Amino acid sequence: MTTIRSHGENTPGPGCPAQYTRLYEPVPESGRDALWTRLREEHGTVAPVEIEPGVRVWLLLGYQENLTVLQQPHLFSRDTRRWREVVEGRVDLSRPSFSWRPNALYADGAEHTRLRTPIVDALGRVDMAATERTVRRIADELVDSFVADGRADLVSDYAAHLPVLVINSLYGLPDSYGHMLGDITAIVFDQDAKRGEEGVARMHQYFAGLVARKRNRPGQDLVSWMLQHPIGLNDDEVAHQAALINNSSHMSSTHLIGNTMWTLLTDPRIRTAHTEALVSVQALLDHVMWSNTPFQTLLGRIARQDTHLGNAQIRAGDALLLGFAPAHLDPSVQRDEPENDTGIAGGSRAHLMFGAGPHACPGRELARLIASTGLSVLHERLAGLQLEVAPGQLRWAQSPFLRGLHELPVTFVPAAPEGPRSPEPGPRVRKAAATGPEEPEDLLDRLLNWWRGLRG
Ligand code: HEM
Repeated sequence: MTTIRSHGENTPGPGCPAQYTRLYEPVPESGRDALWTRLREEHGTVAPVEIEPGVRVWLLLGYQENLTVLQQPHLFSRDTRRWREVVEGRVDLSRPSFSWRPNALYADGAEHTRLRTPIVDALGRVDMAATERTVRRIADELVDSFVADGRADLVSDYAAHLPVLVINSLYGLPDSYGHMLGDITAIVFDQDAKRGEEGVARMHQYFAGLVARKRNRPGQDLVSWMLQHPIGLNDDEVAHQAALINNSSHMSSTHLIGNTMWTLLTDPRIRTAHTEALVSVQALLDHVMWSNTPFQTLLGRIARQDTHLGNAQIRAGDALLLGFAPAHLDPSVQRDEPENDTGIAGGSRAHLMFGAGPHACPGRELARLIASTGLSVLHERLAGLQLEVAPGQLRWAQSPFLRGLHELPVTFVPAAPEGPRSPEPGPRVRKAAATGPEEPEDLLDRLLNWWRGLRG
């Protein structure tokens, strides 16, 4: 029987940190699954952990506890400014993993609905068939850039670029802007705080410039649709929601593609089943989101009032770390029967990777489309694909929140590039007409010039 604990009362104070499992410590190559199981044995379905030295949160290990928290916004707020550590000045919210921004993700109640509705409606207008062609075109062009070499890093040469280029195309911009946005996003998520700050400032310029351009010249794209939405978000609000779309989709989709390729390259049973069309790409993605989930944990909710959860006594202002990976290992949802012949985990469609409740991911169909099309293109174009190094030599991200590879070096049979599929919408036309006045340089142009200067 586990005793009831709370951060403030029954648990050891700051002088006795041993009780708090340190999630920031190095991750074993095999992943954290053994740790999740040990924590469940020691604490039940909710465990006290540290995500940085001295930064304590409750980790939700139970499947039902995660669902309960996600689905009860009246008890658990998304507004990280309510976190006691923030209120009392011990944590600042300027980093990507501990942040607050004026966007739908961090809003509750009516404000959440006001900010989320234009996002959902704009994503609902995306032509998925046309987008599939765009994903395929971008994926083919990325493959073209390395296919003749017979080797590539599928993370840095492929998976890190595909999602951001697709989202950029849904903003109605040529690929060059997408490459710039990819670089800026990488800086934002950089471990180096100084570089991260610079990235945030550049990203703000990108989205402010994008919104200003779309305000002047609307098109058929996500930002124009959000600007035209009857809810009436102002330009700054639209810029923040557009940034949220990019930030939510980038790392998660990159690591979904990377972890799925890793699964195919290291699990011969699944690879054979996939090659023989016994397992669809969608089933493969569900398997990876269940058993090798890119979002292991997510700093996600702040208790609005004192409450019990599992064996823990939560106090108002405590932070809860959603535990997607631990939830998927919860014995209450693990299937007793062995995995079927294909190697795919039973029940994997019940994964929580896209969240649940009012904040559930509005981009999940798009995420699946990007990942599945991206994987199909690799499957079709790279013959004889295999890992270039032993699996044990691969480096996994050390973040307590993510499971993703730094690089995935592979070899394959070299082939000739296939060449551009359809011309990229060319650089912005600067002269409106032969006789018209030259269009002034805008913020996005200036940012693109800065970025081109950096790349030499
Ligand atoms: C594999 C890829 C993806 C994963 C695993 C993922 C996962 C999630 C999760 C778990 C949440 C909820 C967070 C919470 O409740 O605190 C979320 C929210 C969100 N996601 Fe995704 N996402 C992915 C891709 C995308 C894409 C492609 C888009 C858009 C094109 C997108 C847009 C959003 C937005 C706007 C939110 C905030 C919704 C709200 O707070 O109401 N995501 N995502």
